Amino acid sequence: MRHLLSPLDFSVEETNRLLILAKDISENPKKYSKCCLGKKLATLFYEPSTRTRLSFEAAMLNLGGSVLGFSSADSSSAAKGESVSDTIRVISCYADICAMRHPKEGAPLVASTKSSIPVINAGDGGHQHPTQTLTDLLTIYCLKGHLENMTIGLCGDLKFGRTVHSLINSLVRYAGIKFVLISPKELCVPDYIREDVLDKNNIPYKEVEKLEDVMGELDILYMTRVQKERFFNEDDYLRMKDFYILDKNKMSLAKDDMIVLHPLPRVNEISVEVDDDPRAAYFKQAQYGVYVRMALIMTLLEVTLDE
Ligand code: CP
Repeated sequence: MRHLLSPLDFSVEETNRLLILAKDISENPKKYSKCCLGKKLATLFYEPSTRTRLSFEAAMLNLGGSVLGFSSADSSSAAKGESVSDTIRVISCYADICAMRHPKEGAPLVASTKSSIPVINAGDGGHQHPTQTLTDLLTIYCLKGHLENMTIGLCGDLKFGRTVHSLINSLVRYAGIKFVLISPKELCVPDYIREDVLDKNNIPYKEVEKLEDVMGELDILYMTRVQKERFFNEDDYLRMKDFYILDKNKMSLAKDDMIVLHPLPRVNEISVEVDDDPRAAYFKQAQYGVYVRMALIMTLLEVTLDE
């Protein structure tokens, strides 16, 4: 039995196989509509979510399976003090696989040690968000045709942004990737990403504050939200929240084939006027999230089309 706790739990070969399966699902969804008949997915969400929880549920329903779960800690027995370890032991009796989002870093890892079903980390605090990374990789793979030889700009909250940390960890395994890290100093990437991931793997990168200065260099621009829920101090959040706003003027500086990604939800960091630009791919990205989670559920349950 396997879990998915970090994007690095899958080798590059396994990740590529999963992306190829997800692409085939996106092109032939009906072919997969009975793959998980009789299987159940539990979604254990201790933190708010729209895309991750509902795309997991859509994915299992698209595969012919069923879903159960809770969407907030308050509506589960966590509100009465039940531990994650006890909860997962119980859920293992009810479901075949589960996706867990938790505000505490490492909670899905703790759950996996007590679980008898595969546990998928659906986001743990400011740590990792591996299924968002698989979504991002599938979007880039489908829209660009490859995952190598690209300059990727990551913009916004690079300190607390778990999607950014997971994406960097994953993309450094592909050849010819360069990063441009665009953030105010207060929200720059943590030292462990700079030293243990980028420097250790000799990945070219630069850190800048102004988005306009680097727009023309980028093949991908990955925008992120300044996350109110991760700040301890309201004043700091208010000072940072509108630091970046991607608008038509800034888009005019970008390459014609650059694509804009965002894990969503957005607040103000992408102006709605950008939504009609053909390079804006963030809503397509949300759709790819369903296909990649279908591929992931099939992979972890070891379900194939033949069955
Ligand atoms: N991208 C993402 O994780 O969105 P949700 O918080 O809505 O799940």
